[in-house]
Amino acid sequence: MENLETWLPLIRSPGGKSALCRQGQDLVDDTGGRYPVQHGIPRLVAPEALEGDDASWNIFFDWIAPLYELNERVGVRLLCGLDLRDEQRRIVESLAIAPGSSLLEVCTGPGVYQPLLAKAVGPQGRLAALDLSWGMVRRCAERTRKQLPTPLVVQGNGAALPFADASFDNVFHFGGIKLFNSPEHALTECARVLRPGGLLFLGDEGFAPTIPVRGWRRRLLMRVNPCFQRPPPEIPQGLTLKKQQNVYDGLAFLWTLERVET
Ligand SMILES: C[S@@+](CC[C@H](N)C(=O)[O-])C[C@H]1O[C@@H](n2cnc3c(N)ncnc32)[C@H](O)[C@@H]1O
Repeated sequence: MENLETWLPLIRSPGGKSALCRQGQDLVDDTGGRYPVQHGIPRLVAPEALEGDDASWNIFFDWIAPLYELNERVGVRLLCGLDLRDEQRRIVESLAIAPGSSLLEVCTGPGVYQPLLAKAVGPQGRLAALDLSWGMVRRCAERTRKQLPTPLVVQGNGAALPFADASFDNVFHFGGIKLFNSPEHALTECARVLRPGGLLFLGDEGFAPTIPVRGWRRRLLMRVNPCFQRPPPEIPQGLTLKKQQNVYDGLAFLWTLERVET
């Protein structure tokens, strides 16, 4: 709760629309919108308002949340031969995250990147972690309880971020952008909450053109994970591509995008 109080000046209703204040266990805005805080997690989303892909993926991720890390450790190793913990460490070490900076992780899942991001921003930095799935944010909050800095964990929709404009130095968004109804709109939201000059680190599934993944492995990956069939998102106004990397042994892309004035 103490963490929540310090974040309150930056927290908004979904999409950054209205400032919020505490009323008992809830956060309320001046239009009568009311958002509960449960287990220390502000629930800044109205699940009944979800539509299309957002709604169906949310049901799936709530269901898979307890098995997510087992699948990462065992399933991904068997199918792709990857040790994701090593890959994730390499990814975060390759980013220009300054100690003492503030960072929002969108689509945090159970928070597997959180210990690495905490190390990057250091004890003086500030971290927030957001996901749409209640099952995932509960796990993320549990995992990061004793972490320094302890993140503000929020249930929210990445397409309507519950933060004020220019709240963060960096946004980290890995493994979720192809799940959105409108990836381009979700990126515009990331740009909105970044300060000018701030960086968005964006990654998701995608075969690297330079590292061949062929035959049964390619067909199987495309069948079990529909994100491999989707193109990377268009980059909206307000963001410019600074750097591209192939990560996860050529199975994912990682872009560094800078927030620019339009
Ligand atoms: C494949 S997991 C990636 C989790 C983590 N970033 C990782 O790399 O392990 C995708 C996550 O995106 C979240 N997600 C999907 N659509 C979302 C949305 N509209 N807003 C916020 N989170 C969303 C899911 O709940 C899920 O936890």
